[in-house]
Amino acid sequence: MKALPLISEQEDLAGKRVLLRVDLNVPLEAGEVRDAYRIEQSIPTIDLLRNKGARVVLLAHIGKGKPEDTLGPVAKWLNKKFPLTFLDRLTSPENVRVINAMHDGDVVLLENLRHDPGEEKNDPSFASYLASLGDIYVNDAFGVSHRAHASVVGITALLPSYAGLLLAEEVKQLAAAFTPGHPFLFILGGAKISTKMPLLKKFLNVADHVFVGGVAANDFLKVCGHEVGRSVIDLAELDGIKSYSAHERLILPSDVVVKNEAGAEVRGVDGVAEGDMIVDVGTKTIQGLEEIVARAALIVWNGPLGYYEAGYTEGTRELLSLIANSRATSIIGGGDTVALINEMGFSDRFSFVSTGGGAMLDYLANETLPGIDALTKPK
Ligand code: 3PG
Repeated sequence: MKALPLISEQEDLAGKRVLLRVDLNVPLEAGEVRDAYRIEQSIPTIDLLRNKGARVVLLAHIGKGKPEDTLGPVAKWLNKKFPLTFLDRLTSPENVRVINAMHDGDVVLLENLRHDPGEEKNDPSFASYLASLGDIYVNDAFGVSHRAHASVVGITALLPSYAGLLLAEEVKQLAAAFTPGHPFLFILGGAKISTKMPLLKKFLNVADHVFVGGVAANDFLKVCGHEVGRSVIDLAELDGIKSYSAHERLILPSDVVVKNEAGAEVRGVDGVAEGDMIVDVGTKTIQGLEEIVARAALIVWNGPLGYYEAGYTEGTRELLSLIANSRATSIIGGGDTVALINEMGFSDRFSFVSTGGGAMLDYLANETLPGIDALTKPK
């Protein structure tokens, strides 16, 4: 990959309107930010730009772009760190007036980019609108760089474009998985198996062990002939899963937590009944990983092991504790896992906690992303 052009190496930013794309897509609860990790990781580049006298226009999305998906709570959170003006209508003509009246070091945040359908369609006229608000563009939104959207890709054709500190750091840290130290343990959890098949293929070749939890584990257990009852499975991927099921580097859960009418209980993988739903991995499974974690030089993990949304987080917590106490270089990502890490007060116990969910997966699979290509490819 060609080197990223870095905003940290640019002088002469005083008085410039810098459009800074950040990933502020954080979980909200009762109108408040529930996990601020992504916002916190965006602040060093904002500080760098302010210190160089730039006028910072933050571009971000939240949720899927429904009218009620607003960055208001994020604006409130940021406002406690520095004065910030929230432009609560994405394409209002008033925005141009406010931005042109900014002083050096000022920061404004534009409302949810996904309120305009042109964002996700990478529509040139929406990219032109965004470009008209700035002189320079900076991508610091690693977590969105797998999306070829107007604020990630289209805009780079219209303005001098650079990578921010976070994007550069994510790319550097995650690249450890491409030339790994050994033994290398790769852990894959979460749902959306279709997005994870390329990773299984790649890391079954590259890593020494691949441990699978989440929905992928249910799929593997099913194709290996185990009863999985009412568990969530991804039928579309069963053929692909089957082709890896006997791989010598693959590790599957040996016990699982099941939910049924009687409540939740732990069963060996042979003990799942028709009415059961697998919701987490069991303690024996985690114990079985102890030695591998202790010996590992590198551990890369994306996605929770259990049904996170329903509160089944115990297996993920146990494995996080094990890794936090290991000597391995540990790289962990995926929004839900990262939220747990912060809740456990563990964020400084891992070598690197990625802000990327899908972006981390795509970057690990392809070693680049559309947002990175847009910065590095000749125009
Ligand atoms: C994320 O939450 O992973 C990023 O903000 C991208 O969001 P998206 O999956 O809705 O495109």
